[in-house]
Amino acid sequence: MNLIWIFPIAFRDAAEPWQLGFQDPATPMMQGIIDLHHDIFFFLIVILIFALRMLVRALWHFHYKRNPIPERIVHGTTIEIIRTIFPSIILMFIAIPSFAPPYSMDEVVDPAITIKAIGHQWYRTYEYSDYNSSDEQSLTFDSYMIPEDDLELGQLRLLEVDNRVVVPAKTHLRMIITPADVLHSWAVPSLGVKCDAVPGRSNQTSISIKREGVHYGQCSELCGTNHAFMPIVVEAVSLDDYVSWVSNKLD
Ligand code: CUA
Repeated sequence: MNLIWIFPIAFRDAAEPWQLGFQDPATPMMQGIIDLHHDIFFFLIVILIFALRMLVRALWHFHYKRNPIPERIVHGTTIEIIRTIFPSIILMFIAIPSFAPPYSMDEVVDPAITIKAIGHQWYRTYEYSDYNSSDEQSLTFDSYMIPEDDLELGQLRLLEVDNRVVVPAKTHLRMIITPADVLHSWAVPSLGVKCDAVPGRSNQTSISIKREGVHYGQCSELCGTNHAFMPIVVEAVSLDDYVSWVSNKLD
């Protein structure tokens, strides 16, 4: 028996009430995004404190009562060189670590499985193109949100679906993301994926989930009245469980 079935709530990767910050990362990609965020946040705090100190000091010292006759100096070469060079050095320190995540997102590392996520108004269709059933049909199913009235105890409102995307953990996956009607987006925070489904286009992204678990996401491009009601549930299981899921789905 899989641990996910015994403790279904403890293993969920979804947003929690009053959450600040990120969800637990389940892919190296999301780990990279969080590291970059923390990296840049360091500079943000330093700059914030420095700029605030300058602002307060200027307001204090150049108050008209404390400084009734204004200085006539308008130019200073040294200060101008410093205040140009120094921020560009800071920008360089921000830019260099920001190159790695987008380029590694673009990389497709010899995927074992290709899954096509097709956005519809307002549900999703998933196609596992690598497998064919006996009548030459590829593994395809629709995934609808479970309406509030049909929720069972412990299920997440607006996040649960009837058919989850089951994938193996610790395996390189290729996601092909496309819509059948309007602009949608396939976004799962804990996987570090937010990929737009653009009409007439197939977007590709790769995922490698580090651990077993249930990862929740939502449509992230306004696509009509039921935009809020087409969630994504990715269930990462062991390879054995995945193989038996596929063979069950195929017959
Ligand atoms: Cu589909 Cu918003």
